[in-house]
Amino acid sequence: MPLTRSDFPDGFLFGAATAAYQIEGHGFGGAGPTHWDSFAATMGNVKGGEDGAVACDHYHRWQQDLDLLRDAGMDAYRFSTSWARVLPEGRGALNPEGIAFYDRLVDGMLERGLKPIHTLYHWEMPSTLADLGGWTNRDVAGWFGDYVEVIDDAIGDRVHQIATINEPWCVAYLSHFLGLHAPGLRDIRAAARAMHHVLLAHGEAMTRLRARGRDNLGIVLNFEYAQPAGNSPADLAAAATADAIFNRWFIQAITHGTYPDEAMEGFAPHMPQGWQNDMATIQQPLDWLGVNYYTRHIYAADPAAPTWPRTREVPGHLATTQMGWEIYPEGLHHFLTWLAQNYVGDLPLFVTENGMARDDRVENGKVFDPERMDFIQRHLGAMHKAIGDGANLRGFFYWSLLDNYEWAEGYDKRFGIVHVDYQTQVRTPKASYSMLKDLIAK
Ligand code: FCB
Repeated sequence: MPLTRSDFPDGFLFGAATAAYQIEGHGFGGAGPTHWDSFAATMGNVKGGEDGAVACDHYHRWQQDLDLLRDAGMDAYRFSTSWARVLPEGRGALNPEGIAFYDRLVDGMLERGLKPIHTLYHWEMPSTLADLGGWTNRDVAGWFGDYVEVIDDAIGDRVHQIATINEPWCVAYLSHFLGLHAPGLRDIRAAARAMHHVLLAHGEAMTRLRARGRDNLGIVLNFEYAQPAGNSPADLAAAATADAIFNRWFIQAITHGTYPDEAMEGFAPHMPQGWQNDMATIQQPLDWLGVNYYTRHIYAADPAAPTWPRTREVPGHLATTQMGWEIYPEGLHHFLTWLAQNYVGDLPLFVTENGMARDDRVENGKVFDPERMDFIQRHLGAMHKAIGDGANLRGFFYWSLLDNYEWAEGYDKRFGIVHVDYQTQVRTPKASYSMLKDLIAK
């Protein structure tokens, strides 16, 4: 039997998620340039050199997009505000038009009975601050804190729940060690600093918001199941290293004030001086934790690799999505129960992102996406089981409401429950949208 609302605890929130740069259209309304604009303009970084200048034109079509959430019966909407739209140079002069946009957007959610779940940073560092080193510069914590106060002045009285940062692993490691997201660095010293400063900025934002009397504060972390390729001690160690970097670094710092040994093996020599003194700021109590989950990876030891972390990925055998990501709902169950048991106890958890990309086409005015319906049901099954096993899970946000700018992949990876035709900006709800609408109504 497909799961419906009635299988979940009272008050469980059903919603969808988006992010500012991926949908708004950054070319409108006086927003300042960000590191994603220059990263995308650089040869070889983003498929087709595509950027977020127009995206889904949500900046002009937001009412229609909020209607789609309301019409699906959603309880909540996870959105983000763009730092560079609020403060085009990252600090200093405000952009009143940008502030007014978010003010209207939040009122629009409330008018439609949607709880606003606000993410403060979903990846668009203002270029002027990127010029100063962005996440590698310790001052980023203060810059971020100042921006947080500005946007909180504008909408903080009406948002239901606040996340400081979306996916610090992507902000730091993917973007400064693997070089796959903006600013595209491949440098272990830059990466170690970003891994630490992103948490310091989180702590700074928490401190400032608490001082302003805000509650319901959290952070959104991403988790990928790290599976050893075999049973050899070397493969187990390789998976443990990957797990430390991806899954344990951020939550261990926030809840225990320490970093995992396997990750420090690589980063220790490159950490900013005196990092230990920041751990108290980082270790702020959370009111809730957001979990983003998509897939698993399989790791083998790579002893011949000349540099740390000496692991390599091995392809798996499960069905994959348009991203090439294996579909592995068991990993979501694992993380929800593992977090409860080892890190956060009874703290409310939310699945703040989970979804799949598919090469969706409109045929006769419709999009039929049975694989996505199955994906959602299987992951709801994992969430349901985790609740039975003691995880205090309070909500699920599908990624994403709309097909959108999928970062380095450009526009051809379609994650939405609503199809977007980028030529006409016509929105077409997919079959998965109807399925979610039905299951929420039950
Ligand atoms: C997550 C991001 C989100 C989107 C999905 C597919 O890592 O938070 O913006 O790109 O992946």
